[in-house]
Amino acid sequence: MKKVYLETFGCQMNVSDSERVATSLQSKGFEITTQQESADIVLINTCSVREKAEHKLYTRVGEVRNAAGRKPFVGVMGCVAQLDGETLFQKIAGVDFVVGTRAVGRVSQAIEHVLEHQDTYIDLGERDIDYEWSVAENQRHSPYVAFVPIIEGCNKFCTYCIVPFSRGREVSLSASEIVRQVLEYRRQGVKEIHLIGQNVNSYRPKTESGLEEFAGRTPFSRLLRAVAATGIERIKFTTSFPRDFHADIVDAINEHPNLCNWVHLPVQSGSSDVLRRMRRGHTVESYFKKVDALKDSARDIALTTDIIVGFPGETEKDFLDTVAMVDRCGFDSAYIFKYSPRPGTPAFAMKDDVTPAEKTRRFRELEAVQKRVQRKRLERYRGKKVEVLAERVSARNPDDLAGHSTCHKLVNFPASKRLLGNIVNVRIVDIKSNTLYGEIC
Ligand code: SAH
Ligand code: SF4
Ligand code: F3S
Repeated sequence: MKKVYLETFGCQMNVSDSERVATSLQSKGFEITTQQESADIVLINTCSVREKAEHKLYTRVGEVRNAAGRKPFVGVMGCVAQLDGETLFQKIAGVDFVVGTRAVGRVSQAIEHVLEHQDTYIDLGERDIDYEWSVAENQRHSPYVAFVPIIEGCNKFCTYCIVPFSRGREVSLSASEIVRQVLEYRRQGVKEIHLIGQNVNSYRPKTESGLEEFAGRTPFSRLLRAVAATGIERIKFTTSFPRDFHADIVDAINEHPNLCNWVHLPVQSGSSDVLRRMRRGHTVESYFKKVDALKDSARDIALTTDIIVGFPGETEKDFLDTVAMVDRCGFDSAYIFKYSPRPGTPAFAMKDDVTPAEKTRRFRELEAVQKRVQRKRLERYRGKKVEVLAERVSARNPDDLAGHSTCHKLVNFPASKRLLGNIVNVRIVDIKSNTLYGEIC
C-alpha cells in the first residue's frame, strides 16, 4: 500500500480540500501517513496569499529532497499550484506533479500517473460534476468539528488579493447538499460545523433546492435558517464580506441559539481612501454601521477582523485612522498583516512605497493597540459562564482540556478526558492574552 504524507498551508478552504483529498485517496487504497520519512508521495497543499506563505513551498520541497533515506514523489496542490502551473517544474527542482485548486478530486489519477510512468503530470482542470464533498470521519481535523464549504472562489477582486486568481469565480453549493452533509456530520457525533467560503454571505446557489421553506432577505440568511433547522448544536460561519453583510444575518443569529455569536468581518483599513484603492466596496462609515448593528443585538456577538498595514500610498494619517478605527470597533481579535505585493493583482502595479521598516513599525504599533483593546474586551468574560466544546487535551497541561466557546474564544479548563466531545459550562476565572481560563460550573 503506497503511503501519502499530506501537508497543508493556508486557509480553512485548503484544510477542507486536504480533508477531502485524504478521504478520496484512502478510499482508493492509499494510506495517509503522519510520517514524512516513510512516505512514497509527499503532497503539499499551498497558499499564495502573501509572499511568505508562498516561500514555505520552496523551503519544504528542498527539505523533502534533502532528507536522508527514500526519495518520495512530490506533488503540489492548492493556490500556488493553480497560479504557477507548468512553470513550477522549472521553478522548483524536484516537483513531480501539480494539481490545481479545482482539480483536487483527481489527485489519485496524478499519483497513479507518476508512479506508473515516472514522469511529471499536471492537472489544472475544472471540478468533476460528481465531485464528492463529504469527508471521512477519520480524516476530519477534529472528531467534533467539521468544515462545510458553501461557496468557493471569489468575484470581488480586492486590488491586493490573489485569491480570485487562484480560486476562480464564486460557485455556491446547493442548500440541499449542504444540509445533507450537516445531517450526516450530526449523525456521526459532530457538535460544531463551520460553514466556510472566501465570502460566505455572497452565497448564491443556482437552485432553490433546500431553501424552499426558509425565509430571509438573502440566500445566505435563508441558508443559515435551513442549517439551524437541522438541530446541530453549533453553527459558525466564516468569512463574511462587509459590503454584503446585512441586518438579516444578525436577525438569524438572534432567532436561532445554535447560530453562534461570532462574526469574522475583515475591515482591512480604517481609511476610506485606502479602502477605495483596495476596492473593498465599503467605507469606514458603512463598516461602523454594520458593527453597530452587531453590537445592538441582544446576544453578545464577538467580532473579529483582518487588517492590512502598509498598503501602497498608506500615509501616516491613514494609519492613524486605522488605529482609531480599532479603538472604536473593539475587536475581540484581529489578524494584522503587512501588505505583500502579489504579482498579477492590480495593486502590484502600484508603487509599494511604504518601506519594510515602516510596515514593521505600523504592524507593531497596531498590534499593541489591538492587544490593549482585546484585553479590555476579554475582561467582560471574567466571572461569566460560557459554553465550551471540549475539543482536545490542552497542549500546555495534560490535566486541562481545551476548546472553543460559542463566541469562538479558546478556553482552557481542568477536566477529565471523559468529557471530550461534550459541550460544558465553564466559568471564566482568568484572562490570558489570547485565551480564557476557567472552571467547570
Ligand atoms: N475573503 C476574505 C479573506 C481572504 S485572505 C476577505 O475578503 O476578507 C485573508 C486575509 O489575508 C485578508 O483578509 C487580508 O487581510 C489578507 N491579505 C490578502 N492579500 C494580502 C496581501 N497581498 N498582503 C497582505 N495581506 C493580504
Ligand atoms: Fe481576496 Fe477580497 Fe476576495 Fe477576500 S473578498 S478573497 S480579500 S479578493
Ligand atoms: Fe491562501 Fe489560497 Fe486560502 S491563497 S488563504 S490557501 S484561498
